[in-house]
Amino acid sequence: MAARQRLGVGIIGAGNISSQYLKAMRTFPVLDIRGIADMRPDVAERKAAEFGVKAASVEALLADSSVEILVNLTIPRAHVAVGLRAIAAGKHVYSEKPIGVNFAEARTLVAAARKKGVRIGSAPDTFLGGSHQQARAVVDSGKLGTIIGGTASFGVPGHEYWHPDPAFYYDVGGGPVLDMGPYYITGLVNLLGPVKAVQAMSLTPAKQRPIRSEPKKGQMMPVKVFTHVTGTLQFASGALVQVSLSFDVPKHTHRPLEIYGTEASMQVPDPNMFGGEVKIARPRAEDWDDVPVRIPYADANYRSLGVADMAYAILNDRPHRCSGDLALHVLEVMEAFETASKSGQIVRIKTKVERPAPMTDSLKRGKIA
Ligand SMILES: NC(=O)c1ccc[n+]([C@@H]2O[C@H](COP(=O)([O-])OP(=O)(O)OC[C@H]3O[C@@H](n4cnc5c(N)ncnc54)[C@H](O)[C@@H]3O)[C@@H](O)[C@H]2O)c1
Repeated sequence: MAARQRLGVGIIGAGNISSQYLKAMRTFPVLDIRGIADMRPDVAERKAAEFGVKAASVEALLADSSVEILVNLTIPRAHVAVGLRAIAAGKHVYSEKPIGVNFAEARTLVAAARKKGVRIGSAPDTFLGGSHQQARAVVDSGKLGTIIGGTASFGVPGHEYWHPDPAFYYDVGGGPVLDMGPYYITGLVNLLGPVKAVQAMSLTPAKQRPIRSEPKKGQMMPVKVFTHVTGTLQFASGALVQVSLSFDVPKHTHRPLEIYGTEASMQVPDPNMFGGEVKIARPRAEDWDDVPVRIPYADANYRSLGVADMAYAILNDRPHRCSGDLALHVLEVMEAFETASKSGQIVRIKTKVERPAPMTDSLKRGKIA
């Protein structure tokens, strides 16, 4: 009998980000989209019509035996509840980030998947993008020497300037750390390995903020999270990385990620993107040298690459890269920013993960090994 080539995929959550998934999933023949659902059926129907897929109710999608991987694109506070339902229905689950709004609930999700014998995966998958994998190859080549430190910097005036319904970014489960931290911290773990401890200080300058985008322009949103967060990550390797994640920055000129080694420094592009320039410079160099990006998936938005990797991993019985354990480690680190900020104490991280396997040239043949 011929080996199976495709896995059935169902999507729950037909909001903003689902368009990017539905578009990028067309790149990956391994993903056979069986339907999309939302607690607002009209939203699912509109999205299904736009992308030529089937709309279904949440219940029908979960009951559909042809759906093997459930892609959970609901809002952060619903990730665990929806994920648990899908696991109970026997589906592998791939969740948007963060995997849960706190470590305790996310751990139940990862444990439930393990017990049921299904996979749990989570965004972000941008670290699988060609530029981030090229940066990883630079680290692995030893060109930077021993990594001493680095910086991670994200600062915007707030998603209320563009998102049509931004209140969830300021509710429990939102904030710059849970929203953007997954990209930055996962990107750093891919490069440097697991985090050992976190030190942080944070602010909530405004207890409510106005929505600045249509259609809800002018409505006030309560702010229940820190919106300006600074801290230091100590990696198990010993490297120290300064982190700044903020929804209170009108404009800035910092690079998203820089890594400093004993032999050279490296600029790593925006970890929310798959591509971008990678550059290195040795001590006292006049300028930065470009590192040619030769690894695929750097030229577009491939959101769902992590789902495709998980599908190939299931078909080939190998670990998937955007794993629940990686997402859980990153969530523990993100939560530690809050705990450390409130307590003034350094928080030690208990979970340990291995760096996901680097991507290989087999990508060029349209597969992910
Ligand atoms: N918008 C972005 O640019 C972006 C980028 C990357 C990741 N994300 C992540 O993607 C997720 C979704 O973000 P979004 O911007 O698409 O949000 P959204 O509010 O636009 O869409 C979420 C959808 O999920 C549905 N939903 C919520 N709870 C549900 C439930 N219990 N059952 C069924 N449907 C439910 C809502 O009706 C809504 O249509 C979030 O976790 C976010 O962090 C968003």
